[in-house]
Amino acid sequence: MDTSLLTEAIPFEENLQFESIISDLLKQKYSICDTFFEDQLVHQLREKLILMYHQSDLKKAAIGNKVNESIEKSIRGDYIQWIDEQGADSVEKAFFERINALKNYLNKTCFMGLLHKEFHYAVYPKGTFYKRHIDTFQNDDRRKLSMVCYLNDESWSPSNGGDLVLYPEGLEQIHIHPLPGRVVIFESQILEHEVKKVINDERLSITGWLKTR
Ligand code: OGA
Ligand code: MN
Repeated sequence: MDTSLLTEAIPFEENLQFESIISDLLKQKYSICDTFFEDQLVHQLREKLILMYHQSDLKKAAIGNKVNESIEKSIRGDYIQWIDEQGADSVEKAFFERINALKNYLNKTCFMGLLHKEFHYAVYPKGTFYKRHIDTFQNDDRRKLSMVCYLNDESWSPSNGGDLVLYPEGLEQIHIHPLPGRVVIFESQILEHEVKKVINDERLSITGWLKTR
């Protein structure tokens, strides 16, 4: 049997949520989606992160990549743990399933050539921040899309600080509260951004990048 005909016959299923992310990205280089993951998954990821944080599994984040990394508390103060997709538990597998669905959709509809990804948990303790920056390195420009998913508690208040601020070129800055389950996606090579100082509580998230070859 000629299987090439079979794959051709599979209808392309439009995903309205992904379409709205794409149109946001085209229009304004970023998108905010509050229903990307199911609430239960966000809760489970949050529980896992809290456990790891209390077991001291997270490390102080560095600046730069493996070739030239240094720890600069004056630039960023978060603690991170990279997530290994191969060694992922069932909760993280569900997380990656959703990420991969978006990645495949972007490749199919926008020919983005997203082949790799890297994601890490992050905790910003009280008093920490991440100064204004972009997410690509001088010696490596493979990061195309940045994604942040916030894992804060339902009781997170804007007075806790820790807003993500985006600086679109020539436009007003945009302040985004790190509300539980909120996902922010933006173009890694273009959008300067900053994490404002966390005033109360710990700020929890998963951050990652979809990358080209
Ligand atoms: C980063 C980053 C934004 C956020 O980790 O590079 O900019 O809101 N994170 O946590
Ligand atoms: Mn960043």
